[in-house]
Amino acid sequence: MAKLTSSCVVGVQWGDEGKGKIVDILSQKADLVVRFQGGGNAGHTVVVNGEKHVLHLIPSGILHKSICVIANGVVVDLIQLLEEMEEIKRRGIKVDGRIFLSDRAHVVMPYHKFLDKHSEGASGTGKIGTTQRGIGPCYADKAARKGIRVADLYNEEFFKERVFAFTAEKNKILAALYGAEPLDAARIVDEYRGYAAKLKPFITDAVEMVNGAIDKGKKVLFEGAQGSLLDIDFGTYPFVTSSNSDACGISAGTGVPPKKIGKILGVAKAYCTRVGEGPFPTELNDALGEKLREIGGEYGATTGRPRRCGWFDGVTSRHAVQINGIEEVAITKLDVLSGLDEIKFGIAYQHNGTKTDRMPTDTKVLAQCRPVYKSFKGWKEDLSKVRRYEDLPKAAKIYLNFLEGYLKVKVTMISVGKDREKTILRR
Ligand code: GDP
Ligand code: IMO
Ligand code: MG
Repeated sequence: MAKLTSSCVVGVQWGDEGKGKIVDILSQKADLVVRFQGGGNAGHTVVVNGEKHVLHLIPSGILHKSICVIANGVVVDLIQLLEEMEEIKRRGIKVDGRIFLSDRAHVVMPYHKFLDKHSEGASGTGKIGTTQRGIGPCYADKAARKGIRVADLYNEEFFKERVFAFTAEKNKILAALYGAEPLDAARIVDEYRGYAAKLKPFITDAVEMVNGAIDKGKKVLFEGAQGSLLDIDFGTYPFVTSSNSDACGISAGTGVPPKKIGKILGVAKAYCTRVGEGPFPTELNDALGEKLREIGGEYGATTGRPRRCGWFDGVTSRHAVQINGIEEVAITKLDVLSGLDEIKFGIAYQHNGTKTDRMPTDTKVLAQCRPVYKSFKGWKEDLSKVRRYEDLPKAAKIYLNFLEGYLKVKVTMISVGKDREKTILRR
């Protein structure tokens, strides 16, 4: 079989692993960078020459020369996309011919955002701590066949008919459940016609674009958003996002068949974080957790919320390795652990007197699990100038070696700072 030219970057934890930085580095050699799921809930930070770029919908390949594709599996807030494109242009980066949006992608409508906000505020339904970007309601409508696809924007009558019908329905729900003011369907139609006109040059049949590129031997990089533990099927349900945020989502989210997908690179922090609600067995609810938050700058790129911090959880990460078929991992933020006397790594859980190293499916059980740790000696050295694996402190190498053995993966990249160049590439 011919060598596969496509590869993928996915988060191994609950998101914010530093995927944006890793995709930016890899996209130097990618012809196409393709987002296949999620939406404006993502916040990918890339720092180039000290300048910080935060991307929500546009793939992180935009800062190099790659063509950036937002594929059908993504749910797109058109307002947010246009704003992000404007911001990119303001920074001197060309968007014409560089960004493409699938005509099959679903559109996040105003009522999706309202429903997300109100439903999170309602008591008794179990708060998830969503980013309130309308992601869940939009995917719910997609599954209910009440979605609006990008292609529909250009079919005037059909678009109008659907917006009127769905807005009327949502207005009833918003009023009955939350006492909210009704949305004006005619205004939405007008507004969205304007967005559609602006976006017209960027719309494409992405199935053909991405498959065609792979068939021609071009290098295609799939960029995951969120993380494997937020995956709707394999994550800590219901405290997850509403898409398949691991490699399982690539084919459905792009139309690229599984046999054309090559290497899957997992990205994990050297410790672990989570934003929003849900179980997190290795969470540190103490001064050390706060210290990691401060040193690591652990505040959400999309909502600004403080991220919950804790030790690396081998059990949930091994689950992520399994469902993605990960053989190679990039470890980020190793620099943040410098200066600690002791570093811990979760190797198993205790639950009701039983020890397990499998992630329980029952989220309530997971929440009750107590981690079993292996302890490591820390190191004092500042890692931010290290560029070769050999130059890492011995204690850091021992920690990484253990992680490799535990997860049965090879750590091929190590990130030691925000900037693009603060990276160790290991062959
Ligand atoms: P993503 O959502 O997976 O792309 O990750 P985010 O961008 O939301 O969060 C990662 C944060 O850590 C960003 O602020 C990055 O600039 C920063 N970051 C990435 N790698 C490193 C690293 O190796 N060291 C430090 N100190 N910061 C990093
Ligand atoms: P990136 O791509 C971290 C979390 C939210 C919430 C849950 C559901 O930057 O890694 P949603 O708005 O998707 O319905 O929220 O998922 N979440 C993320 N957490 N990083 C993200 O993206 C996230 N996107 C969603 O905090 O707990
Ligand atoms: Mg993020």
